[in-house]
Amino acid sequence: MTPTFQALVVRVSDEKNYTRAIEERSIDDLPQGEVLIRVHYSSLNYKDGLSCIGNRGVTRHYPHTPGIDAAGVVETSESNDFKAGDPVVITCYDLGMNTAGGFGQFIRVPADWVMPLPDGLSLRESMIYGSAGFTAGLSVDVLQRQGVNPEKGPIVVTGATGGVGSVSVALLAGRGYSVSASTGKPDAEDFLKKLGASEVIGRDAVNDKYGKPLLKETWAGAIDTVGGTTLATLLKASKEGGAVAATGMVASTDLPTTVFPFILRGVSLLGINSQGTSMTLRQEIWSKLAEEWKPAGLERLAVECRFEKLDPEIDRILAGGQRGRVVVNLQ
Ligand SMILES: NC(=O)c1ccc[n+]([C@@H]2O[C@H](COP(=O)([O-])OP(=O)(O)OC[C@H]3O[C@@H](n4cnc5c(N)ncnc54)[C@H](OP(=O)(O)O)[C@@H]3O)[C@@H](O)[C@H]2O)c1
Repeated sequence: MTPTFQALVVRVSDEKNYTRAIEERSIDDLPQGEVLIRVHYSSLNYKDGLSCIGNRGVTRHYPHTPGIDAAGVVETSESNDFKAGDPVVITCYDLGMNTAGGFGQFIRVPADWVMPLPDGLSLRESMIYGSAGFTAGLSVDVLQRQGVNPEKGPIVVTGATGGVGSVSVALLAGRGYSVSASTGKPDAEDFLKKLGASEVIGRDAVNDKYGKPLLKETWAGAIDTVGGTTLATLLKASKEGGAVAATGMVASTDLPTTVFPFILRGVSLLGINSQGTSMTLRQEIWSKLAEEWKPAGLERLAVECRFEKLDPEIDRILAGGQRGRVVVNLQ
């Protein structure tokens, strides 16, 4: 008899309503792939929320199991690179988008998506980071490569209580940067200060509505998850030679700016594409996340939720209400 497992399945009704429920699935339902993995943990990202409500830019076909992250143990492998029992991590590929994802107790994926669990991390810790944390790591890395070091001045992080934002705050603070954390949650000051933020500012402080081409030089660098007028404001308020890492678009996909921040202040706009990152760079960043960059308070970043109880957490991330990361337990 083919083994079965439990998975969260999103279905679309004739009325185009999207429902989600835990269902029994068969290993045979999984897509082809060289490596079958028993998932121990996943995590919740904004993209998972979009997949759960039928965003066709993320997931084209339903029924579907979301979960862009997975950490677990190899069950069977047709690849010489992996063997049964190996602990592994999958983030930032097609998993959970158009490939049955980590909100199921098994996944089957191509071998070149699979990364050995980095030394220095447990499976659970790897999912405290997940795609959001890896993206934060990539962002810190590009700022450093651009020469934005702590001596250059403060760094601002937007959407600071979110997944990418909160890990960015913790990583930057741990690397000795002075961090301005921008949040829309008035009661999040204590959370952000404990992660290492030097100051906590509101969303309005990084959302210039007047459309001036340049603003007072304030930050040496920025990690933005918001997009739109917020991203434009960060560019206009960058110091001479500053850099802004653009990761997200929770508010808007627009970028209403002029060329002045670039040609009068030499500001750089650095695009972050976690999915397009080579395995070599992935492993380099993950190894830093596992060792020298690992925040002492990593646990403080996450709450844990069983996959059967994810519903309210999905609604919360879609409403911009999450604080830190949600680790999803599938054991
Ligand atoms: N480029 C990449 O490779 C990559 C990888 C991963 C994620 N992303 C993108 O990064 C973004 C963040 O992802 P995430 O998983 O960290 O999401 P998340 O956990 O939901 O965090 C987003 C945060 O943004 C803030 N926010 C929400 N709505 C907002 C609005 N309308 N205006 C201003 N701020 C708002 C909230 O923080 P506050 O309440 O603290 O303001 C929220 O917690 C998403 O757009 C995601 O698609 C990109």
